[in-house]
Amino acid sequence: MSRRAVVIDDDPLSREFLVEALRTSAFHVEEAPCGEDGVALVERFDPEIVLTDLRLPGMDGVEVLRACRERNPELSVIVLTAFGTVERAVEAMKAGAEDFLLKPVSPEQIELVLGRLDGRRRLEKENRAMKASLPADADVFRDIVGGNRQFIEALQLAERVAASDATILVRGDSGTGKELVAGLLHRASGRRSGPFIRVNCAALTESLLTSELFGHEKGAFTGAHQKKEGRFELASGGTLFLDEIGEMPSEVQGRLLRVLENGEFERVGGTKTLKSDARIVAATNRDLEDGIECGRFREDLFYRLNVVPIRLPSLRERIDDIPALVSHFLVKFQREHGSVARSVSTEALALLRGADWPGNVRELANIMERACLIAKGETIGVQDLTLPQRRSKQPTATVGITLEEMERQLILGTLESTGWNRTHAARILGVTARTLSNKLKVWRARGLVKAEM
Ligand SMILES: Nc1ncnc2c1ncn2[C@@H]1O[C@H](COP(=O)(O)OP(=O)(O)OP(=O)(O)O)[C@@H](O)[C@H]1O
Ligand SMILES: [Mg+2]
Repeated sequence: MSRRAVVIDDDPLSREFLVEALRTSAFHVEEAPCGEDGVALVERFDPEIVLTDLRLPGMDGVEVLRACRERNPELSVIVLTAFGTVERAVEAMKAGAEDFLLKPVSPEQIELVLGRLDGRRRLEKENRAMKASLPADADVFRDIVGGNRQFIEALQLAERVAASDATILVRGDSGTGKELVAGLLHRASGRRSGPFIRVNCAALTESLLTSELFGHEKGAFTGAHQKKEGRFELASGGTLFLDEIGEMPSEVQGRLLRVLENGEFERVGGTKTLKSDARIVAATNRDLEDGIECGRFREDLFYRLNVVPIRLPSLRERIDDIPALVSHFLVKFQREHGSVARSVSTEALALLRGADWPGNVRELANIMERACLIAKGETIGVQDLTLPQRRSKQPTATVGITLEEMERQLILGTLESTGWNRTHAARILGVTARTLSNKLKVWRARGLVKAEM
């Protein structure tokens, strides 16, 4: 089926020329001498391109353009203008004209415009195809919060390497979001419609983990009543997420190395060599280099896994993200528990910023969840937070220390956790800033705290 075009021009010579030029470019062309007829023709003929003169008796080119695009926003309208109507031509572009041509028009100009149009169409089509290939919830960053530079760089790296089949090692302390990033790697890859399978390498004994990963044949061991497919087979066409890889027993490490090297493995008790088509993402909060040193982790496997390491910063390294994470969790728990909390007080936020966070984002999530559940009003206060304490400096009610010493430890601890903001610390402690200053002054004079404090 040939492509269709409509030419609208009141000047018969000009019209004839345009019709000819388009026919040369293999268009099936219909023509109209005025805007009204033109619009009616467009409706009937359903072309992909309209060439219209700007100055027309009755309805002018801009009006034609508006009328046509209202019916079909995909329609490309090219406006022809003579000298002196350039302003109106600008207006036409604003109203969505694809292009405009200055009269008198040469055949080369027409060709050029058509070429441009084709290029643009192709691009649009590719974009559409790309979007269509994404799942309905196309947001690969779903539920991942953070604006910290280091964190963003880690996410960008993840996004960049997601499309490849390269093995990725996600590193970071406990609770920093490694599993979240593994999910992102899957969603942002071409395997997104395939399975995402997680195996916790720390949770199973050596033999159970082996058969879990590689499957087993019937009768391979006592209790193997049925043949079972392993996770490597189940993850075919998708992603296999090997969590806590640092805990993987050494026998399994050897088998894994072989899969990474040539994609081959056998089921436990099986003789047939199978090929794996799973993309491997591994995660660890352990220092694998240490593991190598003490012989717990195979060095050759480490190099295979560590091709693209993605390191996630600890929460202490991204304190600037705490407010955004807090808001995220407020909304999350509001949705999940119907909690009434909508915000946190300034002091509570200061306390959260100053805390230690050995458990990172997971710990923050837990504290926020608890706070959302126990908060009485819309604002979460200091009293609703059960913060992680620095174990060594935690004031403990030990028998044998004086009340005054206890007080001193509590005050110093609070000051430290608020970044030495006396106003905040005083509010948390329920005393005035002046009381706090006075106490510090006394302790300083008695040499109980450092002079600069
Ligand atoms: N950037 C983030 N935005 C929102 N939520 C996050 C973020 N990072 C982590 N979380 C949340 O914190 C919790 C812990 O994250 P995740 O399980 O991915 O951590 P992990 O690094 O795998 O921890 P572990 O080493 O203990 O397995 C999850 O509930 C996760 O949704
Ligand atoms: Mg994890």
